Amino acid sequence: MTILTQRCTPFDGQKPGTSGLRKKTRIFMQPGYVECFVQSIFNAIGGAEGKTLVIGGDGRYFNAEAIQTILRMAAANGAALAIVGQGGLLSTPAASNLIRQRGADGGLILSASHNPGGIDADFGLKFNSANGGPAPETITNAIFEQTKTIDSYKTLDAPDIDLDRIGQTTLGDMRVAVVDPVTDYAALMEELFNFDALRALFASGFTMKFDAMHAVTGPYATAILEDTLGAPAGTVLNGVPSVDFGKGHPDPNPIWAKPLVDLVMSDDAPDFAAASDGDGDRNMILGRGIYVTPSDSLAVLAANAHLAPGYARGIAGVARSMPTSAACDRVAEALAVECFETPTGWKFFGNLLDAGRVTLCGEESAGTGSDHVREKDGLWAVLLWLNILAVRKMSVRDILQDHWRTYGRNYYSRHDYEAVDAAAANDLMADLTAKLDDLAGQSFGGCTVIGSDSFSYHDPVDGSVSHNQGLRINFEGGGRAVLRLSGTGTEGATLRVYLERYEAPGGDLNIETQEALREIAQATAAISGLAERTGRTEPDVMT
Ligand code: G1P
Ligand code: ZN
Repeated sequence: MTILTQRCTPFDGQKPGTSGLRKKTRIFMQPGYVECFVQSIFNAIGGAEGKTLVIGGDGRYFNAEAIQTILRMAAANGAALAIVGQGGLLSTPAASNLIRQRGADGGLILSASHNPGGIDADFGLKFNSANGGPAPETITNAIFEQTKTIDSYKTLDAPDIDLDRIGQTTLGDMRVAVVDPVTDYAALMEELFNFDALRALFASGFTMKFDAMHAVTGPYATAILEDTLGAPAGTVLNGVPSVDFGKGHPDPNPIWAKPLVDLVMSDDAPDFAAASDGDGDRNMILGRGIYVTPSDSLAVLAANAHLAPGYARGIAGVARSMPTSAACDRVAEALAVECFETPTGWKFFGNLLDAGRVTLCGEESAGTGSDHVREKDGLWAVLLWLNILAVRKMSVRDILQDHWRTYGRNYYSRHDYEAVDAAAANDLMADLTAKLDDLAGQSFGGCTVIGSDSFSYHDPVDGSVSHNQGLRINFEGGGRAVLRLSGTGTEGATLRVYLERYEAPGGDLNIETQEALREIAQATAAISGLAERTGRTEPDVMT
């Protein structure tokens, strides 16, 4: 096998976003596109020589082909060992775990997360560092710089390797270990949670549905819930991963997982239901007759984590992304632990987790996780909920009601305006930014602005500063709106409007969410000129 050095010319726009490089699949399929990006990653991390890399993805269209390309390049760049999930599959949290457990130098994760898969849908690729987490901005910026000037890449003149057979093989001088994607991850879950209590829960007739959405968590959920914990066959729905996610949109929210939401609202509702996304890092939590908003889920998990063996000593602190509701802040205050507000994107939690400042983290976008890995983790959240349900012996609804009666309720919703004209969206944000300083004191409908700003994050661990992380408008009485543009979309711009209102424990804790937020939504639309600028009067998605 010979090492080939191929000439190439840079591709525009290979800039990693909120979570790696996300583009239409056909863009990734252009000759040399993956190669230029992967060589840029290797160059940016000081080469691949002698390194151990974990490689795997969510199984979407082009996953297997891209992995073969990456393996040949890793070998040609001198990597010592590649650890690959069987069939090229690894959920994002399982990849993070493998990087950490095997002491790898990093990993390449192929996923466009919750975006649809297929030749006309989306693809993605990101680099995770040795701590198992998404590369920090210093590295993603360095990768982007490399992509602008890259003029050659190294690859191997070698055939594809068999990704379906578990075991060791070699590619040039590089060893390749094809591993079962589930085993190590399942072992980690067993360390954290009381599997005996969960077995007893299912044995007692507790019912659950888990919608894997035809994506990567199918094998994980089947192995853990059904095969290990004894949940009846059929607990896992849509459990066989497919390259186009059954032509669905693998995003676990009330829009894209509507059949599951309909089920829990029906007479046939199970006690508990959950769903995960394309690459297994997101989660949606449902109980009989109730949807748990992700911000509330984080707060409930923070308040009850000590009930699971892995967190029995309590939590060190909690972090949430800035647009996530402040529900967990109240729990942190009650527990007298630190609480951090970070920019959107899991990469910002890495330093806090590494420094032991926080144990739990979460984002309003259905991401929850802990220091067990350096990614958010869908099944982990489901298992922690199950552990809490097993110990407290209460319904999901009663747990939430109890939580709100203790801490008050942060009514919360995110409104997404998708595929908006990019120029119009940028103008909206620029004009709103320009008038932020003048908003205080002005009233819009019944809402008076008390302050507004553009969020900057000062990382307390490494001192780095990240500017322009979303526009915040605070209203009298504790209401808040946040506006930001998505960094993961692949079509036009996605404008996200995050709405929140706090109701104290003694107040009305059971208003319909959109109703509770109506005034704040109207005020935000008026302030930003949303309808005139985007031509939209209704969001495409409300979570
Ligand atoms: C979205 C979510 C964000 C999450 C990211 C990756 O990013 O909002 O919380 O970390 O996907 O799953 P966005 O499209 O808003 O940039
Ligand atoms: Zn995801």
